[in-house]
Amino acid sequence: MSKLKTGERLLFGIFGVFILLAIISYVILEVVRMKSTKPMYTATSHFDFTPEGLKGSEWFRQANCTACHRALRNGTNMGLNLDGIGSRRTPEWIVDFLNHPESAYPVRTVDHGPGKEAAYVAEIPQEKLAAIAVFLSELRADRGAATAEAPPEGRSEFIDNMVKMWAPAEWNDKYQDVRTKQPESPKSPVKP
Ligand code: HEC
Repeated sequence: MSKLKTGERLLFGIFGVFILLAIISYVILEVVRMKSTKPMYTATSHFDFTPEGLKGSEWFRQANCTACHRALRNGTNMGLNLDGIGSRRTPEWIVDFLNHPESAYPVRTVDHGPGKEAAYVAEIPQEKLAAIAVFLSELRADRGAATAEAPPEGRSEFIDNMVKMWAPAEWNDKYQDVRTKQPESPKSPVKP
């Protein structure tokens, strides 16, 4: 075995320490997680299905939407996560989008538009699309979830200070602070 230079030994040493630390913290995390009776991450989305929504969840899987989307722990992480979408979109908007993605979306679509990979979605019979839309609209997100329109309840001193420090005064007239908005029912965004 050839001898290592001092620099090499130092480099491999540092590298080894990092790997060791990563393994140790992973083991600690797993042990804490196993022993804990509380879930480590609180669920911020929930659902309550009507019979039609339940039917829609079957169509959703059969129509292979899970190849690109994720909902209720099914599907892939590669595309858009649809958990909580019902807090942002109405069933009408969803049906409109599924049928006419290019006109319903504010920007050019990546996959849903004509000739693209998910163009087949617009060809699915209307009653199935309607059930899928009901299913998706029943996936709700709590306030403060990444997919919810409304921020978490209560004031945060940190955010107050950040706004005071960084937001120019004229923004007061130009923009509305989402925290002062009442959470509303999902609305369909205005078309461009
Ligand atoms: C090939 C991948 C792919 C497949 C398959 C697919 N989608 Fe999508 N979906 C996307 C992408 C990407 C977007 C974002 C819009 C775009 O660029 O096309 C999207 C957007 C959406 C949106 C709008 C989300 C939002 O709030 O803006 C809905 C609703 C949706 N898909 C439902 C479905 C349903 C239902 C199916 C199955 C019938 C399906 N998708 C199949 C890739 C896919």
